[in-house]
Amino acid sequence: MAKFLTLHGPNLNLLGEREPGHYGSENLEAINQTLAERCKTAGHEFDCFQSNAEHQLIERIHNSRTESTDFIIFNPAAFTHTSVALRDALLAVNIPFIEVHLSNVHKRESFRAHSYFSDIAEGVICGFGKTSYTLALDAAIQMLDEKG
Ligand code: DQA
Repeated sequence: MAKFLTLHGPNLNLLGEREPGHYGSENLEAINQTLAERCKTAGHEFDCFQSNAEHQLIERIHNSRTESTDFIIFNPAAFTHTSVALRDALLAVNIPFIEVHLSNVHKRESFRAHSYFSDIAEGVICGFGKTSYTLALDAAIQMLDEKG
């Protein structure tokens, strides 16, 4: 059994009402619920955390070290484009992660094309709305299965 942590960055607590053209109509709770069920069906453990504060996301990443988290699914939201501190936190704990975005960041403003995470992630999935998360989780489960 593997332990998955899904982390959601700033403003993602407003999913469902926030810019639905970019982020869809599903709220965060429903997305987490889908991921939790998928994890359970595959025989794995699921945890999730959302914060609008950079330091809280950093603390949660640090805690995942002692919680024996095997894999992180991370949507850093706007911190994608700004946060060296979150990048360093992920490098410090050395837990594999997939970077996720609901929207296709490459189809939007040019500042969204740069990420502080993509080059240290196992992979990046963007542009599929809520399905970006399930694709990431399925890929992570497969990766861990293949590693044994
Ligand atoms: C986002 C894309 C980011 O550029 C943006 O700041 C977000 C959400 C996405 O999921 O598409 O808040 O990470």
